Parts: sequence; C-alpha cells; structure tokens
Amino acid sequence: MNGIQIMGTGAAVPSRIMTNFDWAKIVDTNDEWIQSRSGIAQRYFCENESNTDLAIQAAKQALERSEVDKEDIGLVIVATFTPDCATPSMACLVHEALGLPQHAVAFDLNAACSGFLYAMNTAGAILAQGGKPYALVVGSEKISGKINWQDRSSCILFGDGAGAAVIRLNLEEQFVGKWGSVGNKEALYCPYEGEEAYLHMDGQLIFKQAVRMMTEYATETLAAADLKLEDLRYVVCHQANKRIIQSVMRHLDGKEEQFYMNIQKYGNTSAASIPIALNELWEEKKVAHGEKILCVSFGAGFTFSAMLITF
Ligand code: COA
Repeated sequence: MNGIQIMGTGAAVPSRIMTNFDWAKIVDTNDEWIQSRSGIAQRYFCENESNTDLAIQAAKQALERSEVDKEDIGLVIVATFTPDCATPSMACLVHEALGLPQHAVAFDLNAACSGFLYAMNTAGAILAQGGKPYALVVGSEKISGKINWQDRSSCILFGDGAGAAVIRLNLEEQFVGKWGSVGNKEALYCPYEGEEAYLHMDGQLIFKQAVRMMTEYATETLAAADLKLEDLRYVVCHQANKRIIQSVMRHLDGKEEQFYMNIQKYGNTSAASIPIALNELWEEKKVAHGEKILCVSFGAGFTFSAMLITF
C-alpha cells in the first residue's frame, strides 16, 4: 500500500470549558496536582452537543479545506468508543450531514485511543483497492458521559472533541507503519450497562505499557522508513499524559520541541487527540506541504499504532 497524504484537516470542541479549578469543586483534587501529574489545565465537555455534532463539524471543516469534490470520496470512517447510539453509526450520520454520495461507504471503528490511526490504516487499505481516491477519517469522542465523576484518579484526565482529515494515497511513497493489539480488561474497562457503566482505570499499568509500546512502535517505524528522529520536525503522540510523552521522547533521544503537545488545553480526547493535533499543526502553519509527521498511539484494548503521514 502507498503512504497516506492529508488533503485537509478540521476539528471541533464543545463550548463548555472545564478547568482543573472546576474539578476541584467536585472531587478532592487541585490544579497543581493535575498539572504536575498529567500536564492538563483544562478540557472541553459537551453540554448540549452530541458526539455526532462534533464529528460533523470537524468533518465539514476538513472537507471544505481539502477542496476535494464530494463525488471523489469513497469512504467515511469515524473512530470512536463513545458513539451516541448503537445504530446508525456516527459515520452514516456524518455521511448524511455532508450530503456524501451513495458510493461512499460509512462505518465506525472502535480502537479506543488508537482509533484514528487504526482508521487511517484501514482507510489506506480500502483506498488501495482502487475506486474513489479520497477518504474522510474522523476521530470523535464524548468521554464526559463515560467517566466516574467521583473517581479523582481518572475523571480529571479526559475531554470531549473531534478531529478529521480528508486523505488520499501518496503514490510516490510506500506506507510505513505498524499496528497491533494485546487483549487486556484490567487496565481500562467501560461496561455498557449497570451501575458501574463508566471508565475503570489502572493508571500506572497503562502508563508503563504506553511508554514501552509507543517507544517500540516509533522506533520500528523509523527504522522501516530508514529515517532518524532528527529527520522529522514533529512527532504527534496520542495526548494522554504529558509525562508519558516526555518519557517516550527521552527513550527515543528526541527534543522537547519535536514532540507536539496540546494536552494542556484538551485533556485526553482518545480517538480525537491525534487529528486535533494534526489540525493545529496545519492551522498554525507549523507543517509544510510534503512534510512527514510520525504519529504514535496507544489505547485501551490494548491497541497500538505508529505511522508516517505526509501533509
Ligand atoms: N488529585 C489529587 N490526588 C490524586 C488524584 C487527583 N486527581 N488522583 C490520584 N491522587 C492521589 C492518589 O490517591 C495517590 O495518593 P496516595 O499516595 O495517598 O495513595 C497519589 O495521588 C498518587 O497517585 P498515583 O496513581 O500513584 O499517581 P500517578 O503519578 O501514577 O498519576 C495518573 C496518576 C492517572 C495521572 C497516571 O498514572 C496516568 O496518567 N496514567 C495513564 C492513564 C491514561 O493514560 N489513561 C488513558 C489511557 S488511553
């Protein structure tokens, strides 16, 4: 399969900002603890918005900016672990809202925080079969509805948001990336029903696993591409914890300015975190046309992925 190129990006967050000071009114915590342990200062929480509203907003923006004709879109994937309903899929609702043609297939994908990179990989494989040249890939979450508002060790970490990208295959490059999974229910678990239908988390177990696997996947992807870290201006890691990203950076011998960080504004938005970061890089003109970015993720499941993408 060929490499993946981004044609346009978009992002959306709900209007309500929930600061660490707001959390300190609800659970026994404080701004200093949250910032020093996670790097998070605030996150966005839905009030009246649905997850689908956010996904549609981000997807519309990405499509407009890509200047791609709707008729040339062959696929819509929404990565989410917090869909608004069991059916229809959020991807079908995005399809409807954007007035996409019938030949564009639409489905959701759940790989938790690796969802966006899993969706990019899946979209690339489908585009490689031929047919229409573009895919719309969205990562969108409303995690505020899934947290335990009494559990200070997990509730302060998450936020709501969406990011999207219109992509095509870059015929001048080969795809370089890796994805994998390891089944585990202890680290992060969220049942659908019952009194405990919220996120249950073992933070330290996730922390160690995340650092180890993101380092491994990033190292192998760079080696497969015959690149060194210093050849890249930016690495975009899943934004779960500032200390996890810094630890991966140290293991890879990277520089602080290479490892893009926006967790302070959004918290952990799961599948949305990487596309929101990519959209910021694009909006702030931090990436040039043709530039390669290394994206790396880990998620509940466990799921892992790393890939090089081109702007
Ligand atoms: N405010 C204040 N104190 C808190 C707190 C909060 N929000 N949450 C936990 N604490 C307390 C604990 O109760 C503990 O107190 P004790 O020593 O008296 O028992 C102390 O702080 C240290 O807790 P600990 O769990 O060891 O902290 P930590 O340094 O491991 O950081 C996380 C906790 C959750 C921030 C960190 O483990 C983490 O980010 N893990 C990864 C989670 C993740 O990424 N999840 C999503 C996966 S995609």
